Amino acid sequence: MRTETAPVIRLEDYRPSDFLIDQVELDVKLHPTETRVIATLAMRPNPAGRSDAPLVLDGDELNLKSVALDGRVLSDEEFEASPHSLTIAQAPRQAFTLTIETEINPTANTKLMGLYRSSGNYCTQCEAEGFRRITYFLDRPDILSVYTTRIEADREEAPVLLGNGNPVESGSIDDSGRHYAVWHDPHPKPSYLFALVGGRLGRVAESFTTMSGREVELAIYVEPGKENRADYALEALERSMRWDERVFGLEYDLDVFNIVAVSDFNMGAMENKGLNIFNDKYVLASPETATDMDYAHIEAIIAHEYFHNWTGNRVTCRDWFQLCLKEGLTVFRDQEFSSDERSRPVHRIAEVKTLRARQFLEDSSPLSHPVRPNQYREINNFYTATVYEKGAEIVRMLKTIIGEQDFRHGMDLYFERCDGTAATVEDFLNAFAEVTGRDLSHFARWYEQSGTPRVKVKSQYDEAGQTYRLDFTQVTPPTPGQAKKEPMAIPVALGLVSHDGSPLSATCDQVDERGVFLFDKAADSITFTGVTSLPVPSLFRGFSAPVKVSLDLPNAELLVLLRHDTDAFNRWQAAQTVAMRLLASLSIEGQVADEEIDAFSTALCAFIDRDAENDPAFAALVMTLPSEADIAQEIGQDVNPDAIHRARSELRRRIGAACSKRLQRIYAAFTETGPYSPDAASAGRRSLRNACLDLLAAADPIAGEALASAQLEAATNMTDRLASLSVLTTIPGTVRDDAIAWFGERYRNEPLVIDKWFTLQAAIPEDQTLERVKNLMQHPAFSISNPNRVRSLIGSFAMLNQVQFNRADGAGYRLLASIVLRADELNPQLAARLLTAFSTWRMMEISRRNHAEEALRSIAQKPNLSRDVGDIVSRSLE
Ligand code: ARG
Ligand code: ZN
Repeated sequence: MRTETAPVIRLEDYRPSDFLIDQVELDVKLHPTETRVIATLAMRPNPAGRSDAPLVLDGDELNLKSVALDGRVLSDEEFEASPHSLTIAQAPRQAFTLTIETEINPTANTKLMGLYRSSGNYCTQCEAEGFRRITYFLDRPDILSVYTTRIEADREEAPVLLGNGNPVESGSIDDSGRHYAVWHDPHPKPSYLFALVGGRLGRVAESFTTMSGREVELAIYVEPGKENRADYALEALERSMRWDERVFGLEYDLDVFNIVAVSDFNMGAMENKGLNIFNDKYVLASPETATDMDYAHIEAIIAHEYFHNWTGNRVTCRDWFQLCLKEGLTVFRDQEFSSDERSRPVHRIAEVKTLRARQFLEDSSPLSHPVRPNQYREINNFYTATVYEKGAEIVRMLKTIIGEQDFRHGMDLYFERCDGTAATVEDFLNAFAEVTGRDLSHFARWYEQSGTPRVKVKSQYDEAGQTYRLDFTQVTPPTPGQAKKEPMAIPVALGLVSHDGSPLSATCDQVDERGVFLFDKAADSITFTGVTSLPVPSLFRGFSAPVKVSLDLPNAELLVLLRHDTDAFNRWQAAQTVAMRLLASLSIEGQVADEEIDAFSTALCAFIDRDAENDPAFAALVMTLPSEADIAQEIGQDVNPDAIHRARSELRRRIGAACSKRLQRIYAAFTETGPYSPDAASAGRRSLRNACLDLLAAADPIAGEALASAQLEAATNMTDRLASLSVLTTIPGTVRDDAIAWFGERYRNEPLVIDKWFTLQAAIPEDQTLERVKNLMQHPAFSISNPNRVRSLIGSFAMLNQVQFNRADGAGYRLLASIVLRADELNPQLAARLLTAFSTWRMMEISRRNHAEEALRSIAQKPNLSRDVGDIVSRSLE
């Protein structure tokens, strides 16, 4: 279908389905190329629907074998079928049973939507609209049905057969070599939560007693031989379950909870009821193959999918416009979990870094959209940082505004009201409005208005009157489809800090007992009284709102915050803001006064002396400069990535040189001893040591090369090994070449490690990288049909390598465009994701912008683009 012809789906057009499906019985006979599916649907007209409507079921690339109504096979005149729909014009006006037989080919399914094969195993992905690739159905999230699934397969090929819900029955089929299993899920659910798995899989299991004393069997299924790599995920699952009981009073509701890891998966993972399916990179971990960051991601995603059992499954979404209802809320919940399990400030900083790198970027691009979009052409393109991460920030702001207790009460009411229903954002907000008696209609604008608000703050101290005034203004820039913007309700968590860190006893009426000022007009001011000396304002503590702030404070005052603020987030933020100012000036003007750089280095050295050893993870974050992509976003227009790269290298070099004694001391003192443990404290020590290595190598590449090679040899875990290899990749020469070759050979049989190896090489900021990437695409481990491989090599090139993707000669853009077109023929979702790397094209300087536009147009002109790619490319060019 051509881009222009893909219909636009609008929120305002929502209406209830004309029919309901109360029960679904699926009989699936697995076969590599001819899987047979018999769906028996107990249906009835929906009292809330139209009474004269035909029955129209969704399909996608289906091959219909037969259809029967109440047991009677229908003749060709009684229905109309195509691969993408099945229509019965004269459907009964009372309850009826529809039986549909389809045949599907899981081996040919390269889109990885519906039923497909991964490393020979059968698995499914149905969100958002994959169920219609298995059978004809009312494939929309407000159709809730009770499912019973019978799965049959060759016992040799698929000894393990898993479905949603609880196992009911299993057995052999005579002496055919085939066997079957029946699963029943008593909880009504939408079709996007359906799943089945069949294959040869290893298993680790554990039993879990819920808070009310029910026994649940937890199991994780992985490639045979890799069972011990699932231990960490299993333990993270138990901690997640315990946490949800403790923090939200939410208990698991089936006898089993299964997780299956597969190696071909479009996203991170999927929360199918009782049968989560995961991208194996978010399950498998061992010290030899996974980094500290991998362990943290596994913990977070295991939790995320588990938490969906309540926020997503028990309460689901009425339609796909409400996606943030489950995703934003569930991201918020997994973030809270990780913060409780690890260091809250360190985790908050990591969250904000991702939010800015991905969501702020998206919101300033042609792909900007509201957290609850009001229209789409292809829903898969709306599983975005905005829906997920900004969606989570909205929930966090709500909690900040109403307070912890009321937040919990609101959540309780939400579950009480909406359990077992397909709900909307309004249902969610109503629960909080009701428990607090607050009008949340202004706050609700966060769901509707796209773009990142910019807040400007001016400060004024009146020494005689001992008052301190802060003047706030806010503006949200225009975004696609929204030229005019309204002011937002922005919670500003704030405090005042004295220059020497001594406590200040100032007060302000407009700030509530939690230290929050609700800034909800275009302009507003607040005044503190009893301010005995000139303070430094600490604003948006803990990043209390997803906005961009500009402050009229000189660097020296910001550095007071780095030293004295009680809010760890703002200590980090102060250092980042100063670094960003230096980096932006260095990029644009090519230089900044030595004194300014020296003042920053001196403050960092002092910080290292005072704090590095006490909180290594935090220190590592403070010592890491904003990325090249962050700097590009800050500059925002006529971006020259080469200048940014030079600027960042220069500042790293200067800081590394100024602090080298200290960095060496810490590097030596934090040498790893004892066995590896992925816990946050140990990970923090490694991250500090590796941050030191990075700066030392920036200041002195010869010494850095020696240090990094020694570390590569001595390393006992993947974190340290990868960090040293990463430093080496930036220092051209035979040491680097040998290290890359050695690493590639050593992990030849570890696809998830080869992914890291691809990523490091794709990110090398030198001209030869383009050829290197092309050559790596010929590497035996690379495959254009495996999403992890493609994202590691191609996605990293486009998203991490600012200078080479945005080459002045346009070759980076052309390479990506050609790969997007190739990938689109196999896997449109994957291709569309890659294509979003172009979302920054309009902020580039003119010659790069022209090259990027040309590459985008070359894609747009191609006939037979998928809806996914067609949608992204047309919005990118608008
Ligand atoms: N609901 C999944 C999650 O936990 C994501 C699934 C996205 N699937 C897709 N086809 N876009 O976030
Ligand atoms: Zn999710």
